[in-house]
Amino acid sequence: MTFSDSGVKYFEGKVAVVTGGSRGIGKAVIDELIEKGARVVIGDILESLGNEVANAYNEKAGTKVAAFIRTDVSKYSDNKALFQFAETEFGGVDIAILSADDLEEGIFNVNTIGVIKGSKVALMHMAKRGGGSIVCIASTAGLYTVFDTSAYNASKHAVVGYVRSCSIMPAVCNVRVNAVCPSWVATDLLVGFTSSSTVDPLVEAMNAFPFVAMSDVVKGVFTFLYEESRNAEALMILSDGLQWNVPAPLPACFFSEECVNVQKRYFENAIPYSKKQLAEALERYNAEQQSFLDLS
Ligand SMILES: NC(=O)c1ccc[n+]([C@@H]2O[C@H](COP(=O)([O-])OP(=O)(O)OC[C@H]3O[C@@H](n4cnc5c(N)ncnc54)[C@H](O)[C@@H]3O)[C@@H](O)[C@H]2O)c1
Repeated sequence: MTFSDSGVKYFEGKVAVVTGGSRGIGKAVIDELIEKGARVVIGDILESLGNEVANAYNEKAGTKVAAFIRTDVSKYSDNKALFQFAETEFGGVDIAILSADDLEEGIFNVNTIGVIKGSKVALMHMAKRGGGSIVCIASTAGLYTVFDTSAYNASKHAVVGYVRSCSIMPAVCNVRVNAVCPSWVATDLLVGFTSSSTVDPLVEAMNAFPFVAMSDVVKGVFTFLYEESRNAEALMILSDGLQWNVPAPLPACFFSEECVNVQKRYFENAIPYSKKQLAEALERYNAEQQSFLDLS
């Protein structure tokens, strides 16, 4: 299946959670998910816009295909409520697109911690369902430091580092975790940059830099949804197309016989260990969810 197979309801029966989905990249991904048959829950802090967007999808489809719940991704409680809501509304979660962004004081809490908390909660719900796919919207700023947007660069490097550390997840619970890394895309997010100062050299640089098409960003996300062998990978969305980003090779000393044996043993042990940890975490999580449902 490829991105261009329009009209094919490839995601019929699938449920997606999209954080930061009230507008921008998240919303563009939802358009395509719904077009391809998925049902979607939007989690965002923009409450009236989120509700409006969900209602518009439902009206167009003539049936319930979308729902909104106010979610601050920096809070565990909100992430849990979001995924639980998706389960109650549509029966489970197969896909999570983590697209929220805050350029201000919440930059690390939203861009980085929000992705980690969202992924951990998504894992619980997907593990119950037998697997799933998590796509984090990182940035080329998570791979390179072309401009000195230092805290933003750091927050996105952390997301790529997190994603690349999820290599054993398919073996543990059949969940894949990947990162899409776009260069500049014309969304409302950039208003945060442009309105800060008209003399900021970054504004001039940003305006002169080639932007990427939103359709290519959506294509990047769907590459990960379709290509089921992809895990712990970063796909750059550039003005001249999509390009895989391969991490720098390990230093030579990591290839000594001793290091190679340690790494081999680690992965052999880490998979059963993580399966056990996950099973215990799921038990605690289900009990917590049950008491939450009993109270509500
Ligand atoms: N626009 C770009 O040039 C660009 C480039 C590379 C990467 N990205 C990344 O793409 C993703 C989407 O950005 P966008 O350009 O669509 O921006 P956007 O501002 O249009 O969308 C971001 C969404 O996140 C929501 N949000 C903010 N704080 C939140 C919180 N605490 N909890 C839940 N939702 C919250 C916002 O309300 C908004 O709906 C971000 O992760 C961003 O860093 C954007």
